[in-house]
Amino acid sequence: MRIAMIGAGYVGLVSGACFAEFGVDVTVMDVDPAKIDGLRAGIMPIYEPGLDKLVAENARDGRLTFTTDLAQAVRGADAVFLAVGTPTRRGDGHADLTYVYAAAEQVAKAAEGPLVLVTKSTVPVGTGREVQAIVRRVRPDLPISVASNPEFLREGSAIGDFMRPDRVVIGVDDERALTVLKRLYRPLYLIETPVLAVSIESAELIKYAANAFLATKITFINEIADLCEKVGADVHDVARGMGLDGRIGRKFLHPGPGYGGSCFPKDTLALARTAQDAGVPVRLVETTIAVNESRKAAMADRILAALGPEPAGKRVGVLGVTFKPETDDMRDAPSLVILPRLVAAGVEVSAYDPQPAHAREALPAAVRFADSALGAAEGADAVVVLTEWNEFRALSPDRLKAAMKGGVILDLRNVWDPVAMRAAGLAYSSIGRP
Ligand code: NAD
Ligand code: UDX
Repeated sequence: MRIAMIGAGYVGLVSGACFAEFGVDVTVMDVDPAKIDGLRAGIMPIYEPGLDKLVAENARDGRLTFTTDLAQAVRGADAVFLAVGTPTRRGDGHADLTYVYAAAEQVAKAAEGPLVLVTKSTVPVGTGREVQAIVRRVRPDLPISVASNPEFLREGSAIGDFMRPDRVVIGVDDERALTVLKRLYRPLYLIETPVLAVSIESAELIKYAANAFLATKITFINEIADLCEKVGADVHDVARGMGLDGRIGRKFLHPGPGYGGSCFPKDTLALARTAQDAGVPVRLVETTIAVNESRKAAMADRILAALGPEPAGKRVGVLGVTFKPETDDMRDAPSLVILPRLVAAGVEVSAYDPQPAHAREALPAAVRFADSALGAAEGADAVVVLTEWNEFRALSPDRLKAAMKGGVILDLRNVWDPVAMRAAGLAYSSIGRP
């Protein structure tokens, strides 16, 4: 089988490389020539564990190629996947579908025969029908099937998530599209992955409902963590005790400074707007969005309060600024709200992140970057953990204490053991633990 993947971002590149690994002939196309030139030279535009090796092996074997030429990518393809961005539209919070519609039109124009046009981007319910209308208008002469195949991979574990998903969701109208997509995902049948064939509308909504549910689950445990602090309970015990109930589940009950990333913030917002437009507001999701937003600001206030009545001129070492570990993605990272507030209060911020490629341009120029965690802690009045990179877990409390000027630790990801930290003489506090 042969496919084209339009968009060489997190989703397009990972899915393209994984389909190639499944034995499919994949052409990844992007409008950004620098990205494509880099990929041809083996340079990854993003940090994602294992991706460079997967791309190199499949490129070497000739199953994975890169181009900026859409017509070349589409020629002879059984299916064309759209994996372009759907960022928040400025002004109203809806998903910006410009890239999806433009790419759909370009694909339809370039098509030389029947094909299946699959939307992998996260798109609001109704987008598939609009894509169908575009395709029929541009190419009334060709049988082009439209399908929805939302992607559930997480950054940092994207390859494993794609190769061993909990389920594959396929939204289709016709048998031909279903047959092509089932063939593409055939290797997953061996590991008994459930494949759900549903309507295009249902597939589109499954993606938003899942993301909004997970964002709400995180927000719920964050509020319970705040309550734990006030009443002397331990949020990890509470989360475990809740999560062992199979109806609740243990995952996504880890408290933190608020969820971030390229999906939850924009997708919850877009779902809320879609639901408002449909006249059935999803008030729980609207509240999740508001609570998460205020949480990030509250975390900045908490750091400032820990610095005492005069935070100006104090120094804070920040460990981890990406939105989660094992990625260099800064999109909607909590650090983007928290660090500017510290800087505005006159605090000197020294940050360290193992993958700082996009951090410098995203954060205020006043934020200094250190080359190591201990470097960021050097001379600091307080050290704050914002992202739970594994290397922070291994830091010795004694060495941390020795590097710092003061001894305040705010562990917003609960990576350290409170007993060990306090034994080293550090004034340690974390989220939702006594
Ligand atoms: P991204 O911004 O990393 O990549 C999008 C790519 O599309 C860019 O390289 C851009 O140059 C390219 N592009 C834009 N218009 C194009 C066109 N007309 N032709 C060819 N290329 C074009 O985006 P992403 O993070 O990969 O997300 C893509 C979609 O997948 C979004 O809808 C997102 O919500 C969804 N999604 C993302 C994740 C994730 O973890 N990042 C997970 C699941 C779903
Ligand atoms: C998410 C979805 O999980 C994935 O299915 C979808 O395809 C894309 O969006 P991603 O944003 O890459 O994936 O990472 P995820 O692990 O879900 O984390 C998102 C945010 O939630 C991060 O800021 C993370 O720190 C936070 N989080 C996650 C918590 O605070 N607590 C948790 O228990 C889990």
